[in-house]
Amino acid sequence: MTILVTGGAGFIGSNFVLDWLGACDEPVVNLDKLTYAGNVHNLAPLAGDQRHIFVQGDIGDAHLVGALLAQHQPRAVLNFAAESHVDRSILGPGEFIQTNIVGTFQLLEQVRAYWAALDAAAKTAFRLLHVSTDEVYGSLSASDPAFTETHRYEPNSPYSASKAASDHLVRAYHHTYGLPVLTTNCSNNYGPLHFPEKLIPLMIVNAQAGKPLPVYGDGQQIRDWLYVKDHCSAIRAVLASGRLGETYNIGGWNEKPNLDIVHTVCDLLDELKPRADRQSYRSQISYVTDRPGHDRRYAIDARKIEQELGWKPAETFETGIRKTVQWYLDNPDWVAQVQSGAYRDWVAMQYAQA
Ligand code: NAD
Ligand code: DAU
Repeated sequence: MTILVTGGAGFIGSNFVLDWLGACDEPVVNLDKLTYAGNVHNLAPLAGDQRHIFVQGDIGDAHLVGALLAQHQPRAVLNFAAESHVDRSILGPGEFIQTNIVGTFQLLEQVRAYWAALDAAAKTAFRLLHVSTDEVYGSLSASDPAFTETHRYEPNSPYSASKAASDHLVRAYHHTYGLPVLTTNCSNNYGPLHFPEKLIPLMIVNAQAGKPLPVYGDGQQIRDWLYVKDHCSAIRAVLASGRLGETYNIGGWNEKPNLDIVHTVCDLLDELKPRADRQSYRSQISYVTDRPGHDRRYAIDARKIEQELGWKPAETFETGIRKTVQWYLDNPDWVAQVQSGAYRDWVAMQYAQA
């Protein structure tokens, strides 16, 4: 038995692969294009491990994907591969359309052909699990109930629109061709190996470097935070026992305004690595121009996955954020390595107008 993971060198994908091989011996074929967000160093603990087969390549490369499926005969394909950063999608949506929509379509085509040729038992057992986001549901007002799986799709950014399109394609391949699919829609993740363009790792890294901590707009936008290892355990639960064709929302019931998140990061750093001048890192907070079309609030109603599959997060926000800050303090080499030239160019462009 083998699984094929796409995007397994990124933040969530690499955490998933590491956790999977930490918990069982079922081999993983890991297909990743290694964009700026993909990092083979994330997978360093698996060096020399025969259970992990890494292949650099694009989910949109039909020939490559078809060959990998034929060679390794996976019992499941888990699609993590995507362009994932909202701000980048605003500056340049093209790659998001290409990977998230066209790439997912090409992957579905190859998986459909592979699945159709399997024998009856393998066909019944096969799963395609598509990893998606709560952002497809759009933005909530302060008084709206949290997103359920039946909430209408109302994506507001090029990123979320491209993920919504991919979700629709996955749904259509189930409805039309009977492909055995599962879709997960998760809230904001945080934890080890998170690329420092996203809010939490950017704040940790900037704070220590003595740089401004850029808070968009009034900092009162709300996100619902989940520790990445809990997302990984939820995906394992959905893969094992999810009902075919269903979608499962994943979240930790942890709604927080962005400014609270930044304050928490600063306070933990004040405790764990105080500034030489004994001032709080909070003094580095800088309010900058808001993100265009910025969604005000996300919140996940996670009752379905809890009631059907018995999944619950293991971490509270307090335990998870402490572990996360500590991980960044313990891994300065990882941070230095990801801060490549390309990363510095992006940060300079994104915050130039701030
Ligand atoms: P990430 O940007 O850290 O990693 C994406 C990975 O996909 C990278 O390794 C990249 O090299 C790879 N990739 C990109 N284009 C590819 C292509 N065409 N072919 C093969 N590989 C390609 O993203 P992430 O935060 O780990 O997110 C993983 C998935 O989870 C995405 O689908 C994202 O939409 C979804 N998601 C993320 C969050 C979050 O908070 N980060 C929350 C919910 C859902
Ligand atoms: O909700 C799930 C989504 O969460 C995933 O689908 C995306 O892939 C992931 O990137 C994330 O999207 P967000 O846009 O919510 O994450 P980000 O870390 O970019 O921003 C979190 C919030 O913090 C958001 O309201 C914007 C704000 N922000 C972000 C940055 C980078 C700032 O105030 N300042 C910043 O510098």
